[in-house]
Amino acid sequence: MNILLTGGLGYIGSHVAVVLTEAGHQVTILDNLCNCKIEVLDRLEKILGRAPAFFKGDVRDQALVESILKEKQINSVIHFAGLKAVGESVQEPLMYYDNNVGGTISLLKAMKNCEIKTIVFSSSASVYGIPVYLPYDEEHPTRPQSPYGKSKLQVEEILKDLSDSDPEWKVVALRYFNPVGAHDSGLIGEDPAGVPNNLIPYVAQVAIGKLEKLKIFGDDYDTPNGTGVRDYIHVMDLAEGHNSALLYVSENTGFSVFNLGTGNGYSVYEVVDAFTSASSRKIPYEIVDRRGGDIASYYANAQKAKKFLGWSAKRGLLQMCIDAWKWAVLH
Ligand code: NAD
Ligand code: UFG
Repeated sequence: MNILLTGGLGYIGSHVAVVLTEAGHQVTILDNLCNCKIEVLDRLEKILGRAPAFFKGDVRDQALVESILKEKQINSVIHFAGLKAVGESVQEPLMYYDNNVGGTISLLKAMKNCEIKTIVFSSSASVYGIPVYLPYDEEHPTRPQSPYGKSKLQVEEILKDLSDSDPEWKVVALRYFNPVGAHDSGLIGEDPAGVPNNLIPYVAQVAIGKLEKLKIFGDDYDTPNGTGVRDYIHVMDLAEGHNSALLYVSENTGFSVFNLGTGNGYSVYEVVDAFTSASSRKIPYEIVDRRGGDIASYYANAQKAKKFLGWSAKRGLLQMCIDAWKWAVLH
């Protein structure tokens, strides 16, 4: 198949580009480089032996998207392009709605004009909001707490309305839990600008000596050891989930939503222990106040993806830390 990856030079998209190319698909990437480096393309070439087709541009440029869809005879789109920093979305909601919601509408209009009606969308576990029960299954109420999470839910609703309006649309929204780790070559991985917000990139920088110590945001949560619990998922497992979703979506009309998580929750202390083993480095830490907006614990019910996509995550927390460490050392 000929597949367009919007935002395909970013963290998740670049790993999906590897998995799909290795599965025999022709991958085309559209990215405006607002949160990635063009070097990722060379690194993809090193891993794959050839670089995917690449267009620098914005997903909101409908004419450009239409020309790519036609030129590359695209069959399906995987839509990663968007902004993802929860805190920034609170400060700059218009920027988030414009890019994440406006960008998707523009992309869908281009697809409709070109009669391409198959799309996989990068949604997020943040659509669920404060847990009413755990693990979150796909039926859990959706009450996102930030403009970022709301933008993801709004796109899901638009996709549902679109598929209700025209039964030819084939749409899957994937609700990612906490993607971590890197390709085992150490050539691609997560490359946050400035001081990382997320736990594992921060821990990696402490292990390598770039940052002095980890600040653990609270040890008094109602969790087994008091620190926050999350469903970390290896980015290569997540990438393989996209290959399964692509097969599913090409055979099923309508709108479907799937959690992509492991179904296991790990605490901050467990992550620190696993990263210490993976890196053989000390990870100094201190306990500080809770971070505003954090939830004590959340993790996925991953059964629906297993049943309908035939996919489940294979790599454990230690492997996630080993690959995150390899990436931190090599890049
Ligand atoms: P990322 O920032 O690394 O990748 C997104 C890519 O999209 C970047 O390369 C950026 O340059 C590009 N981009 C952004 N706006 C664009 C636009 N208007 N036009 C063209 N390109 C644009 O993020 P990621 O971690 O790879 O996430 C990919 C998707 O998955 C995002 O939609 C994100 O919201 C979603 N997601 C990520 C996580 C996570 O923790 N990483 C969790 C849940 C959902
Ligand atoms: N944590 C620390 N110290 C840090 C960073 C994080 O103790 O320096 C703790 C947090 O309090 C939390 C856990 O580590 O308990 C994980 O935090 P992350 O920031 O890595 O992940 P979150 O679950 O808070 O957020 C992530 C993405 C969001 C997304 C959300 C839901 O960053 O974009 O998952 O999908 F919305």
